[in-house]
Amino acid sequence: MGATELSTPLGLAAGFDKNGEMIDFLSSLGFGFLELGSVTALPCNGREKPRIFRLPADYSLINRMGLPNSGAETFARRLKHKNGAVIGINIAKTPDFALTKTTPTSGIDDFLHSFNKLHRLGKYTVLNLSCPNTHDNTTFEHPPLFNDLAREIANARINQNVQHPVLVKLSPDLEKKDLNKIVDTAIKFDFDGFVLTNTTTMRPGLKTRQKTILAIGSGGLSGAALREMANQQLQRVYDITGKKKILIGSGGVMNLQDVLTKLAHGASLVQVYTGFVYEGPFFIKRLNEGLDKFCRQNKIKNYLELVGCHHGA
Ligand SMILES: Cc1cc2nc3c(=O)[nH]c(=O)nc-3n(C[C@H](O)[C@H](O)[C@H](O)COP(=O)(O)O)c2cc1C
Repeated sequence: MGATELSTPLGLAAGFDKNGEMIDFLSSLGFGFLELGSVTALPCNGREKPRIFRLPADYSLINRMGLPNSGAETFARRLKHKNGAVIGINIAKTPDFALTKTTPTSGIDDFLHSFNKLHRLGKYTVLNLSCPNTHDNTTFEHPPLFNDLAREIANARINQNVQHPVLVKLSPDLEKKDLNKIVDTAIKFDFDGFVLTNTTTMRPGLKTRQKTILAIGSGGLSGAALREMANQQLQRVYDITGKKKILIGSGGVMNLQDVLTKLAHGASLVQVYTGFVYEGPFFIKRLNEGLDKFCRQNKIKNYLELVGCHHGA
């Protein structure tokens, strides 16, 4: 999936349509592409409710959904007959709390099962590495674990002649040293790009009262409060990969300026989630029109000219 094939670089981020049940409706809202999932090998009910909280003063959300989804088998059956929309499929490891004693517990097997089942159904696949799904909070962003996973996925790609892009989605909380290792490994195993970023476990400079934040408890923060961290991580990866890899910018896109900033930091595609929740169904059409107008006014023939223009600044 290249940016040039799309009607617009604006897509829906993973987590909104986890089961691929709203494809036609979402496509009608102006998204250029939809990232479905995260899908896990086994069905998962997610965490107990309440598990999503609005922080209006910060134009942000906190969620601890715990990857509720119907699982790879059901997802594959539902998606089989869908065509039209440009779809990416985001896969994650089944959380430990959704496993039974009789199910396989190797995270790599879990990922491989979903990859093998689903990769044919989308235009690209994303490995969501950043969900803390094990009891000790380890994720596949731990560089040695990612190395093992990346090798297996690379083998599966070769064996099944998978041509379409495979990307990895990373956390903004990943420290520079580990980020560099993960990016090096992804390059070594020929991954095509990165989604930067997922939500943060940090609570950077929130306006919402501390008491409220404490009462909400754990979860990933998204929206405006995530913007700076996500942009920084995007820029770090672009500094390494330049335009050789597909970078999808995700995190804190609440208006047109945020889209332009993502492009400037090296994203050739941009996703929204929290902005869509706050701004409603016409948000994407407004952003598309705004981007078109900006390009016309500045005599930019193709928005791709804007990609990476902050580089080195
Ligand atoms: C309620 C909720 C559920 C999410 N679920 C997923 C998910 O299943 N898989 C995933 O990779 N990201 C998930 N995300 C992260 C988003 O895809 C996105 O990367 C993040 O929210 C940052 O973008 P935003 O600031 O535009 O919301 C979720 C986000 C929210 C708010």
